[in-house]
Amino acid sequence: MKSAKSYIEQNKDRFLDELIELLKIPSISADPAYKNDVLKTAEAVKVQLEKAGCDSVEICETPGYPIVYGEKIIDKNLPTVLVYGHYDVQPPDPLELWTSPPFEPVIKETELHPEGAIFARGSCDDKGQMYMHVKALEYMTETNQLPCNVKFMIEGEEEVGSESLGWFISRNREKLANDVILISDTGMISKDTPSITTGLRGLSYVEVEVTGPNRDLHSGLYGGAVANPINILAKMIASLHDENNHITIPGFYDDVEELSKEEREKMAETPFNLKDYEKALDIDSVYGEKGYSTNERNSIRPTLDVNGIWGGYIGEGAKTVIASKAFAKISMRLVPDQNWEKITELFKNHFESIAPKGVRVKVKPHHGGTAYVTPIDSLGYRAAEKAYEETFGKTPIPQRSGGSIPIVALFEKELKSKTILMGFGLDSDAIHSPNEHFGVWNYFKGIETIPQFYHYFTEMSK
Ligand code: BES
Ligand code: MN
Ligand code: MN
Repeated sequence: MKSAKSYIEQNKDRFLDELIELLKIPSISADPAYKNDVLKTAEAVKVQLEKAGCDSVEICETPGYPIVYGEKIIDKNLPTVLVYGHYDVQPPDPLELWTSPPFEPVIKETELHPEGAIFARGSCDDKGQMYMHVKALEYMTETNQLPCNVKFMIEGEEEVGSESLGWFISRNREKLANDVILISDTGMISKDTPSITTGLRGLSYVEVEVTGPNRDLHSGLYGGAVANPINILAKMIASLHDENNHITIPGFYDDVEELSKEEREKMAETPFNLKDYEKALDIDSVYGEKGYSTNERNSIRPTLDVNGIWGGYIGEGAKTVIASKAFAKISMRLVPDQNWEKITELFKNHFESIAPKGVRVKVKPHHGGTAYVTPIDSLGYRAAEKAYEETFGKTPIPQRSGGSIPIVALFEKELKSKTILMGFGLDSDAIHSPNEHFGVWNYFKGIETIPQFYHYFTEMSK
C-alpha cells in the first residue's frame, strides 16, 4: 500500500500547480464587482472534487453565492465525515503593501518557511487548507484506502457571514447527515508544536454613524460652537474601555464563561514566548485586559475593537472643515456563553445612551455568530490526536483560538455533530493581511495528516 508521504512526493508539483490555479481567481465575496470570479471558483472546486473521486458533485444555488456539495458514499453502515471549507477570500487591500500581486501566486522562502510558502490571497484562508482535503481524498481514492463515507460542503460566503449556508443547512439536514465535521480553516502553534483548535470566538459586528450639523462647516467660523462628530465619536469609542481595558458596556460580561483555576493553569502550559510575539509584531509591549495573559486575552476573553473609522477630509494637504458625519466599524469577539444578538442590543443601547447633546447616533448591526468549544474526549478529537501523533510524532496541544467561524456553532445545533478543527496555518501566515502565505510544508503535512484522521475515526467508530 502506498503511503501518503510517497504519493505526495510523486505528485507534489501538480498539487502545488492546481492550488496556484485556484488562487489566481479573485473570489472576493465582499465586493460585488468580483461576482463572476466567485462563481468561477465554485466551478473550479466542483471540477477538482470530481477529479479527486467524488461520485457526485453539485453546485447548490442559494440566495447568495452557491455551495459546492460533493460526496462519496462507499457503505451506508460506515461513518461519514463532512468536510467544510470556504472558497471565498478577503479583499486584498491595501494592495501597495503586497510584495507580489495577491492573485498572482508565487512561492517564496521565509524564515519560518525555508521550504517555501505560496504568497497569495486565500493561500492559507482558506483555499490552501480546503484544497488539502481535496488532495487527501484523491490520495485515498486513487490508492483504494478511503475507509468511510465523505461529504464536502464548500461555501462562498464565509468571509461575509455565511448567511446562505445557514439557509442551506436548514433545508438539507438529511443530505448533510454525518458523524463528524472536519474543518481546516484555523492554525497551529508551530511546525514542531502541533495543536488542534478547540475553541472559536463568537462575533458581533456593528457600524456606527455620528451626525452633527446638517453640512460640513468651516472649522474657523463654527469651530468651538458645535459638536464635531469626529471628536465626539473618538471620545465615545475611547469610553468603551476603562483604565484596566475592561469593556464598559453595562451587562457585557454577564454571561461570560469563567474558566476554572485548573483550566487556566493548563492553558498557561501552552508553549508561548512573549518576547518572540512582540518581536514578530514590532511592538515594545503587548496591551490588553488587566488580569489576563496574552493567550487568554486573545482566546477566552471577549473584546471590542474598532476595525475602521472615517469622516472628514483625508485628501492631500489641509482643509479646514468640521464634518457633518463620522463613522466607525466595530467588532466584538465573544466567548461562551455570550449571545451575540443580546450583545448587539446592549452595545446599541449603550452607544446611543452615551451620545452627548448636539449629535445624533445610529447603530447598524451587521452580522454575528456564536462561540464554539469542542470537547477533547470526543471520538473525533481522539482520532485527530492520533492522526497528528502519526505524522508529527507528537501529541497535539488543544488550543482555543481567537478567530471566528460562526457557522460551526450552527453545525452543532442543526446537524448534532462535533466539529474538529485541524488547522495547519501559522499565525505569521498573515491571513486577511497583505502578503498572506501558506507554507508548502504545511500544505503537504495537512494532506498527509487528513487520511490518518479518516483511518482512526473509522477504526475507533467500530
Ligand atoms: N479562517 C478564519 C477564522 C480563523 C482563522 C479562526 C484562524 C481561527 C484561526 C475565517 O475565515 C475568518 O476570517 N472568520 C472571520 C469571521 C467572519 C464572520 C468574517 C473572522 O474571524 O474575522
Ligand atoms: Mn477562513
Ligand atoms: Mn477569513
